[in-house]
Amino acid sequence: MIDFELSEEQRLIQATARDFAREVLQPQARNRDRDQLFPAAELRRLAALGLLGVNVPQSLGGSEAGAVAYALAMMELASGCAATTVAVAVTNMVSEIIVKYGSEAQQHEHVPRLQNGEHVCGAFALSEPHTGSDAAALKTSAARVGDGWIVNGSKQWITSGDHSGVLVVWARTSPAGGARGLSAFLVKAGTPGLFIGKHEDKMGLRGSTTVPLTFEDMKLPADALLGREGDGFKIAMEALDGGRIGVASQAYGIGRAALQAATSYARERKAFGNPLAEFQAIQWMLADSATELEAARLLVLRGAWLKEHGQPFTREASMGKVYASEAAWRACDRALQIHGGNGYVREYDVERHLRDVRVTRIYEGTSEVQRIVIARTLLREFGIQ
Ligand code: CAA
Repeated sequence: MIDFELSEEQRLIQATARDFAREVLQPQARNRDRDQLFPAAELRRLAALGLLGVNVPQSLGGSEAGAVAYALAMMELASGCAATTVAVAVTNMVSEIIVKYGSEAQQHEHVPRLQNGEHVCGAFALSEPHTGSDAAALKTSAARVGDGWIVNGSKQWITSGDHSGVLVVWARTSPAGGARGLSAFLVKAGTPGLFIGKHEDKMGLRGSTTVPLTFEDMKLPADALLGREGDGFKIAMEALDGGRIGVASQAYGIGRAALQAATSYARERKAFGNPLAEFQAIQWMLADSATELEAARLLVLRGAWLKEHGQPFTREASMGKVYASEAAWRACDRALQIHGGNGYVREYDVERHLRDVRVTRIYEGTSEVQRIVIARTLLREFGIQ
């Protein structure tokens, strides 16, 4: 049976996110981008609406509406302000990690605070200056000292790293090379030995912050370990599978905003005596964007549905991420082209959409990494690896 209908709860979450995006996020998006304003107040309001924990159990303060509802909410929010949604996506990922791997004490200490805005947001500290795609090559170390840990090393590209009440930090706990020697830790903001560097001056998502982190003899208690020692890589990969659905949804939302802008511009703007929308060249661009975005939406929701139903979804999450981010990029590029010279200036939103969407082909695993993941699952399925 295939059912494309949304449940009442999914429709309600989607409508709540759509209204918030239209009424609160979208009107501020241009200024947020221009002045690099972090959306702290908006995150608190999203927390109050239950939109920071759409896929988090109610017992821990979430809305418990599932992975499909989460994807739908992300799509709506991203069409209003993409910079705000990256903080939402990472917060959701951190909450899901703690729900899945945290001890009861860790869950009760952090997950409700991530939902109610007390932590503002969460951060995911995996990448390092020398390695992003090859996550298993990270060098930050955590050594057992007494009944705790001492962490040394550095991280790069950490979304909201300067605003988060709690960070998940990956470190090498065994000299064994590669994926097996990694563990994950929960680090509270303000922990002595944690230093936050300068904001990156980014091309897009300028309202979100991205910072490097340094750990200098950062002491962590024994109970900062998340899951079991040595499970870090698996925790990261599982979290990224879910995170990729969030970023794919974000990409779709940006692409849809660009398509809407292009469609209304094409109806208003005249050339050679007629609205642009009457020219077939323009209609084909709009049609291609609409078709590709719809295909992206279905692929992303299918990954979310598999996740929600406890089925393997690694491949579908990667397919959704690579397809949605590339389709949305093309939709933004066409929207800019339809705007002509007006598309190239800050007075219109499409140049921001193009800048914002570009990173969705890079973070949470580049398009190339997604293709590796997809190909490996295929090769395994056909008994080749
Ligand atoms: N779920 C569970 N386990 C997994 C897994 C998954 N999806 N993928 C791999 N594993 C397990 C494997 O089964 C294997 O376990 P065993 O050793 O027990 O067999 C182990 O992990 C190692 O797997 P691989 O050999 O496949 O690992 P690899 O070193 O070849 O790496 C990779 C694979 C796919 C390239 C991975 O490194 C990767 O995804 N890289 C990209 C990292 C990334 O996405 N970074 C984003 C940073 S976060 C971010 O961007 C957030 C933000 O700010 C928005």
